[in-house]
Amino acid sequence: MVDVDSFIDEKIEEIADEVGGANAVIGLSGGVDSSTAAALAYEAIGDQLTAVYVDTGLMRKGETDQIRETFDYMDSLRIIEAQDRFVDALAGETDPEEKRHVIGEQFIREFEEVAREVDADSLVQGTIYPDRIESEGTIKSHHNVGGLPERIDFDGIVEPMRDLYKDEVREVARELGLEEIVSERMPFPGPGLAVRIIGEVTEEKLEVAREANRVVEEELEEHEPWQALAAVLGKATGVKGDNRVHGWVVAVRSVESRDGMTARAQNVDWDTLQRIQSRITGENEDVARVLYDVTHKPPATIEYE
Ligand code: XMP
Repeated sequence: MVDVDSFIDEKIEEIADEVGGANAVIGLSGGVDSSTAAALAYEAIGDQLTAVYVDTGLMRKGETDQIRETFDYMDSLRIIEAQDRFVDALAGETDPEEKRHVIGEQFIREFEEVAREVDADSLVQGTIYPDRIESEGTIKSHHNVGGLPERIDFDGIVEPMRDLYKDEVREVARELGLEEIVSERMPFPGPGLAVRIIGEVTEEKLEVAREANRVVEEELEEHEPWQALAAVLGKATGVKGDNRVHGWVVAVRSVESRDGMTARAQNVDWDTLQRIQSRITGENEDVARVLYDVTHKPPATIEYE
């Protein structure tokens, strides 16, 4: 990207051209990519755009309220409450790729309904360059790239940021006046907390993951990681008060990266790690242990599934 202002002008024109007089939809995830694509598309086509946010129940704490506030100016914002449907669809599913598949399918089903209702011909997507590269290979199926276009017969797929890296997207977001909490927010995967839970996704594990991720984001924000997260691994023995307990094991991960394709585990100081440990085990009596992940990518991935 040469210059942010010209990029924005060029894309606004391009989106308006591609969509023409028809209606378009975009799926908002709460992350910087889809939020920026939505803001760009709204500048280009205004109320011809319907932004759809599916609350999968796999989101970070406060994400839905954040969306409501940020896109308050769009009359056509739709918030779909689908938490129960996602958790039900995931019941009994333990295979990582299958979990992604189930989430992708359910997402498409929710989205299709709105797209039909508003008679949308075009789909705007916040796909960025690294998404395309990872999905073209066999690394893993990114549900925000595959699926939708084939399932719903859109005349046009508009991907204004397909050649940008994440840091460039943030520049565009700032220039478009998106709030800092959106433009600077850590990346969050489409399948949400489901890829931060090993094995079956249950309401109980989701609650542990949601709280632990909030603590980690709060405590590590000033270390400016590319991404910091918490994952629920399984159960192990611990002792709380006078009792032995079989509690959750939570892994904390904080990485530095430019594009998510490779990453280095961050060197976080002991006091910070201890504070995180004490908050996570203190705030949830069912967590028995907190571990810090020191693995780079490769050989590990950033997410756990
Ligand atoms: P991994 O775990 O593959 O993650 O090292 C690299 C980056 O991609 C994000 N990620 C996803 N983003 N849909 C997304 O939109 C996905 O299915 C997905 N899986 C991983 C991850 O959070 C990290 O930033």
